[in-house]
This record gives sequence, C-alpha cells and structure tokens, in this order.
Amino acid sequence: MKKWRNTIAFIALIIFIILQFIPYDKQMNRPVKGQDLFETATIPEDIGQLIKSACYDCHSQFVRFPWYANIAPVSWLVAKDIREGRESLDFSVWNTLPKREQLKLLDEIAEEVIEGTMPIDIYKVMHLEARLTDEQRDSIVSWADSFAEDLLE
Ligand code: HEC
Repeated sequence: MKKWRNTIAFIALIIFIILQFIPYDKQMNRPVKGQDLFETATIPEDIGQLIKSACYDCHSQFVRFPWYANIAPVSWLVAKDIREGRESLDFSVWNTLPKREQLKLLDEIAEEVIEGTMPIDIYKVMHLEARLTDEQRDSIVSWADSFAEDLLE
C-alpha cells in the first residue's frame, strides 16, 4: 500500500514538473505612456486605490503577478483571465477610447460592481482587499456615474 502511494506521489510530481514546461500565453505588461486612465482623469484617492487593488490585475497593463501566478496550472488560468479581462476593459488604453466607448464601459463597470460579479470570485480567494464591502461598491458605482456625467458635459 505504502509503495503504491509513493509511486503515485512520484508520478504526480513528474506530471507537475512537466506542466511547468508547457508554453502558454503569458500576458505581459505593455503600458504606453499617456494612455492610462490615471494619467489624465482626476480620480478621488479612495476610488483610485479600490480600482487599482481590485481591478487592475486583470484590466490594465500594470498587472502584479504573485509568485503562484507563474506556476502551472494556475498560470494558465491567470493568463486567460487577464487576456479576457483586457479584451473587455483595459484601463491602460482608456485615453485612446472614443467617448462613446468610455461611457459604455463606465455603465458596465457600475453594473458589474452592483451585481457583485466583478472582481471575479476566484480572484477574491487570494486577494482579501478585492472583497469589496457594500459601501466600497456603492462608492465605485457613484464614481462611475458621476464620471460619465462629466464626460457628457
Ligand atoms: C481576476 C481577474 C479580474 C479582476 C480582478 C476583475 N475582472 Fe473584470 N473581467 C474579468 C474577465 C475575465 C472579464 C471578461 C469575461 C466576463 O465578462 O466574465 C471581465 C469583464 C469585465 C467587464 C466587462 C463586462 C461585459 O459586460 O463585457 C467589466 C466592466 C469589468 N470586468 C469590470 C471590472 C471591475 C470594475 C473590476 C474591479 C472592481 C474588475 N472587473 C475586476 C476579470 C477580472
């Protein structure tokens, strides 16, 4: 019995090591100067901090990678979330977007945050600061609404 257990553990270890060599679509940070939301918009300090700590790891070119994000198979999931996250919303190209697109995104941001679908659940397991309180969610939503109104002026 013990021998079997050792064999299985050994095989699992070998598989784990092999996984580390499988190439994947690692998402790099490629910020372009002048394009990030924070470079042009004046954002209240507390909101800015919330967005940076709860959204920027999937929706910007300033992603922080914790050590485990470089270990397969977690790395593959992280890469997929960042790729898909940036496709729908990349705060680091904000200033290149037409106003109509910015308004649409602000509307979607408010919606996702009200519904509690963003940040995605799996992210909140490891990032306590991304578990937003009702109050924090309300403040992001009112910021998104008032920012949209400013854009319309
Ligand atoms: C761990 C990664 C991750 C984090 C953190 C995260 N998102 Fe997302 N977000 C995604 C992914 C992946 C998608 C695209 C797939 C989907 O809609 O579920 C997405 C989609 C979106 C969309 C587009 C939804 C649509 O209708 O197309 C918005 C808006 C959004 N996120 C806002 C936010 C905001 C605001 C935060 C912070 C409060 C945030 N996200 C945090 C991964 C993330």
